Amino acid sequence: MSKILVTGAAGFIGSNFVRYLLRERPDVRVIALDALTYAGNLESLSDCSCDPRFRFVRGDICDAGVVAPVFREHLDAVVNFAAESHVDRSIMGAQEFVRTNFVGVQVLLDLAREHAVGRFLQVSTDEVYGSLGPTGKFTENTPIAPSSPYSASKAAADLLVHAYRTTFGLPTLITRCSNNYGPFQFPEKLIPLFVTNLLAGQKVPLYGDGLNVRDWIHVQDHCEAILAVLDRGKPGGVYNIGGESELPNIEIARRILHYLGHDDSMIEYVKDRPGHDRRYAMDITRIGDDLGWQPRIDSQEGIIETIDWYVANENWWRRIKTGEYLTYYDKQYGPGGVVGVEE
Ligand code: NAD
Ligand code: DAU
Repeated sequence: MSKILVTGAAGFIGSNFVRYLLRERPDVRVIALDALTYAGNLESLSDCSCDPRFRFVRGDICDAGVVAPVFREHLDAVVNFAAESHVDRSIMGAQEFVRTNFVGVQVLLDLAREHAVGRFLQVSTDEVYGSLGPTGKFTENTPIAPSSPYSASKAAADLLVHAYRTTFGLPTLITRCSNNYGPFQFPEKLIPLFVTNLLAGQKVPLYGDGLNVRDWIHVQDHCEAILAVLDRGKPGGVYNIGGESELPNIEIARRILHYLGHDDSMIEYVKDRPGHDRRYAMDITRIGDDLGWQPRIDSQEGIIETIDWYVANENWWRRIKTGEYLTYYDKQYGPGGVVGVEE
């Protein structure tokens, strides 16, 4: 039975990936590690907790003393989702972004090296490439040109991963994905923020002219792509992942508004995000040709299904908005300390 460490496992994509891995791979044991920052929510993994192949460890990836015992358990692979992930927060203050997204990755890389981990997959982002004009797509050879403190910290991590590959021969992999949507996304990001605002009778804040374009992918497709790269990616390889579904923000807003029975009067145009990237689009030829992966979920259906999920799971996001979700860990495991490490 192989053992995989998933860091940032209580976040949006990490929790979806853990669930997917447990479902797809009966021969895998998962150690789910997370610091449980404001973005980490153990309630997103509550259905996994009774699976004997699942174990949760509370820990900060920057703290080698806490993370090292997990690496002593002979890991076959590490998939690192742990990050500060919200661009607007990085504009308010970059310190936590540099700490987790860069220093934390260095800590994981050193431990992976020391313990000869078989595969180290760093989950990166299309934002490392910067912004596109009206045409063209990012390939894996597009120069790194991040715009925000968030994307700069992710780009720095990618360079460090590359350096550990070159200098130490660590079997690294990097994935760079476009904007995800789906269940369990923290309601500070565009789609869950807009859906939950409307469900709570509030307007939706659209930045600038609303014409910035993102390439939207369902989180399930992203998880499938990550597992394909983990299984069959070439060590040292970088793989773009995207949904082949470019949409301007105003179009996303209108889809949500109309589905929930509102019109444009619920849009509030607000001051633009500083340094706001205009357009992202991913060329996913490499992952298609080399690994046979393609996105499967159509964004028209995927976004509607996602709205339905937030409607049906009001308790999940209401507990975030009230802050109650922050008490869940203590109720499950007792206050303080690290749990679940097998020495
Ligand atoms: P998220 O903010 O929902 O989750 C991040 C998780 O990391 C949280 O559970 C948080 O508690 C944990 N974390 C933060 N700092 C930590 C630390 N120091 N130690 C341990 N855990 C820590 O983010 P997400 O949207 O799930 O993104 C996951 C990864 O995917 C990130 O690396 C992000 O850069 C990347 N990514 C996200 C998207 C997207 O659209 N959301 C797209 C491409 C790539
Ligand atoms: O592209 C991948 C990236 O996608 C990931 O690396 C990031 O972790 C993830 O947060 C996401 O970044 P974005 O900045 O693109 O996502 P966000 O949901 O914050 O914003 C999407 C677009 O919507 C962007 O153009 C800004 C706009 N926006 C966002 C918010 C929160 C609004 O107009 N209003 C809002 O309130």
